[in-house]
Parts: sequence; C-alpha cells; structure tokens
Amino acid sequence: MIPGSEYVIEITYIVAAVLFILALKWLSSPVTARRGVWAGEAGMVLAVAGTLLYHGIVDYKWLAIGLVLGAIIGVPLGNVGMTAVPQRTALSHAFGALCVTLVGTAEFYLRAPNVPPFVMSVLSLEVILGGLTVTGSLMAAGKLQEILPQRPITYKGQNFVNLTMLAIAVAIAVRLVLHPEEMVLYPFMVGIALVFGVMMIVPIGGADMPTVISLLNSYAGLSAAAMGFVLNSKLLIVAGSLDGASGFILSVNMSKAMNRSFSNVLFGAFGQVQTSAAAAVEARPVHSATPEEAAAILSAANKVVIVPGYGMAVAQAQHKVRELYDVLTKKGVDVKFGIHPVAGRMPGHMNVLLAEADIPYDKLMDMDEANPDFPQTDVALVIGANDVTNPAARTDVGSPIYGMPILDVDKARTVMVIKRSMSPGFAGIDNPLYYLDNTLMLFGDAKAFVGSIVRELTGGGGHG
Ligand code: TAP
Repeated sequence: MIPGSEYVIEITYIVAAVLFILALKWLSSPVTARRGVWAGEAGMVLAVAGTLLYHGIVDYKWLAIGLVLGAIIGVPLGNVGMTAVPQRTALSHAFGALCVTLVGTAEFYLRAPNVPPFVMSVLSLEVILGGLTVTGSLMAAGKLQEILPQRPITYKGQNFVNLTMLAIAVAIAVRLVLHPEEMVLYPFMVGIALVFGVMMIVPIGGADMPTVISLLNSYAGLSAAAMGFVLNSKLLIVAGSLDGASGFILSVNMSKAMNRSFSNVLFGAFGQVQTSAAAAVEARPVHSATPEEAAAILSAANKVVIVPGYGMAVAQAQHKVRELYDVLTKKGVDVKFGIHPVAGRMPGHMNVLLAEADIPYDKLMDMDEANPDFPQTDVALVIGANDVTNPAARTDVGSPIYGMPILDVDKARTVMVIKRSMSPGFAGIDNPLYYLDNTLMLFGDAKAFVGSIVRELTGGGGHG
C-alpha cells in the first residue's frame, strides 16, 4: 500500500458518506433533485476510487473485467423509457443483492469453520436479506414487465408456509452462529432465502409492485449495511443504512398514499380485486366533448387545475401539456397542476415528466394544497389519470380503494377527462367521476388530444 493512503481512503469515505446524505436531502425536492443526482454519483465515484486504493486488493485485472462487464450491462439499462423505470430499478436491486450474497458467501467459506459469533450473525442477516432480495426483485421486475402474470397467486395457508420458510432460514442462521463448523447448513440457509424471495412476491399483485420494490430496496440496503459489519467497512454501513432507511420510509409513504397498511400490501393479495372488478365497468351514458368544445371551455375559464396521471406518461404528452399551459397562461388563465403522490407508476413520476417539459415548479401543488382549491376551480383537466381521481375512494365503503386519499376533481365546476376509452385504471375499478353531470369525457390519446386543443386555442384548428 502507498504510505499514507489509509488516510486518503478514510477522507474519501467520509466525503462520500456526506455526499450520499446530501444527495438524499436534495433529491427530496424537484428544485434540487438534479444536484442530488450529481452528489450521489460523485459520492459513488469517490467510494469506488477509495476502495481501489485499498491494500486488500491483490489483483486489479478482475476488477477491470468486472467494470467493463458492468458498463456493458449498465449502459443499456440506463436508457430505458420512463415508464419502465420501476422494473429497471428492481433489476438494479437484484444485481446489488446478488453481489452482497456472493460476497457474504465468499467470506463465509474463507473464514469457516472459525467464524466469530458476531460476524456469523451479521453475515447470516446479509445473505438471508440479500438472497430474498435477489429473487424477489427479479420476480417484481418480471411482473412489472408483464413477463410474469401480474395477478396475485394465492393458496390456502400461504402466509403460514412463507413465514415457516423464513423461520427455518433464521433457525439455520442461529445454529450456524453457535456451530459455524456445520458448514453443510450454509447452502440451505441461502437456498431457502432465494426460494422465500419468489414465494414472497407470488401473492402480491402488479399494482403493489412499486411499494414492494421500494421495500426490497430497503432490504438490499440493510443487507449491504450487514456486509459492512462483516467486511469492517464504515462506508458500507453508512451507505447501506441510508439506503435501508430511505427505502423503508418511501414504502411507508406510498402505502399511506394508497391507504394501505404494510401488512396488507405484503399479505393482502390486493391485485386479486383488480382482476375481478375489471369487468364491472358500467354501460351508463357519459357526456363527451370535442377538442374544439374543450378549447372553448378552457379559454372561458379563470382558473384551471391540470391533473396528470399514468396516461400522460404513456402518451408522453408532457411537452404538449406545456404548450397548453403556455397558451392558457398567455390568455390570462390561472393554470396550476394537482399532483397525487402515487399518480403514475413510481414516486415522483409526474414531477419528473413535468420538470422535463420545464413546467415551473411553483405551479405544482401536492394533494393537500390542491384539494381545497377545487371548489373554486373552473376546470379540472384530468390527463390520463384515473384511480387518483376516483370519488369511490371517498364514498363507496365497498370499493377496494375506499379510504385512499384522492384529488377531489369532482368538486370543480367542470371536469374534463382525457383518456382513450372507458377502461379502468391500475386498480381495475370503474370511476363514477365519468358519469357525473359536470364531467366531460375527451376520448383520445393524451398527446394527440392536448395537441388538438392547443391548435384550437392558437387558431390553427382549421375552421373555415
Ligand atoms: P391509472 O389509474 O393507472 O389510470 C391511467 C389511465 O390512463 C387509464 O385509465 C388509461 O385509460 C389512461 N391512458 C393510458 N394510456 C393513455 C394514453 N395514451 N392517452 C390517454 N390516456 C391514457 O393512473 P393514475 O390515476 O395515475 O393512478 C396510478 C395508479 O397506480 C394508482 O392505482 C396507484 O395506486 C397505482 N400505483 C402507483 C404507484 C406510484 S408510486 N405512482 C405505486 C403503486 C401503485 P384508457 O386506457 O382508457 O386510455
């Protein structure tokens, strides 16, 4: 080792840890999010650089091969569309957790049979959490990508089977702490954790996958922190704990926004309701309108609140929405955006899209800010959002989304909803909003429809 390099490593690690903490802080607001990404990346570069100076490295050749392989896999993974980010994130967790499990396994076989009890305890925690995160994340990615069926698969006594499996893995871990020389037990512990990861995801429906992914993120972080104890790396302990805590907080917040308890997400087989309720779309009449009529209503309004949802992301309509915002604002209309915390398919989905289209941040209202505004709003323009505007969540005790906080768009003077058909949203349930007297359905693709409204408003609508 180069003399003095241990100090350089320590300083690099401290700076990296500070950058990780700042990254989390900055990522919590769209205004500073870009800075947050840079801070996180810089922290990771420093952490890797510091580790490369480490005296324990005997051969850089394998590291170089790993780096090249990682880049070959990582670059295309980084270029997926925005709507595929949840499954891409799940894959990243699977890779991270696989790495943790392999490192833990290598450490075990390097040290066994003389593994001190503390090391064996944290090593077991590392590989159990790591193992279940590998297969759990792959399952979650498969469900989101629709390679695997999205619907939950349930059977009698499922929770009992799953919990028993986990208990056996923990029991083996305890045995290994007491008798690390019984090395034959080790593969069973890891094997059970891997199978448990699959079984854990099987009963969870596609709609709950983003919540599960952030929980798996938390597990991956905790297993990395445990690895930090095994390898005696302070940086891993700090980074893993930050990852574990932030993933957990995010899952809790998402569950709250969907009015679901954690146990209900994990054991409730929520998606089952979706498939059965999907058939229940009513054949009641709705009022619909053309782009010309919609443009006339919008230009007569004083105050408009735009509520974007998953459909805006699918249609990539954010730039057209920006044009609409510009024309209406120029006409003196007060235009704001109402953002539901779980609109779209991942946390902050709408914020990212609207930021991409340079919509001013101060025009974005979160749910608590937007709801008191709706009764004074002339037009609530819903663009590709469905579940997050469903008044059944407020009124229908029997609804699967009853109790989920929603954006109260139905309280606006006029509601206009852009979507292609009467199909339900992700929760698979009908939306009574569409049958209200003050609701106008604007049937069409979000990008095309908003584009037509903009053309009408700018006089390019082709009358005459
Ligand atoms: P959804 O309820 O999924 O509704 C999206 C609507 O967009 C659909 O009804 C669809 O109707 C329409 N759409 C699709 N493509 C379109 C296009 N090209 N043009 C216009 N419309 C289009 O979306 P939401 O209101 O954003 O709610 C999100 C859902 O995801 C909630 O149930 C939430 O609980 C769930 N979820 C979200 C998260 C996060 S973190 N965001 C996490 C877990 C679960 P048509 O097919 O008729 O067009």
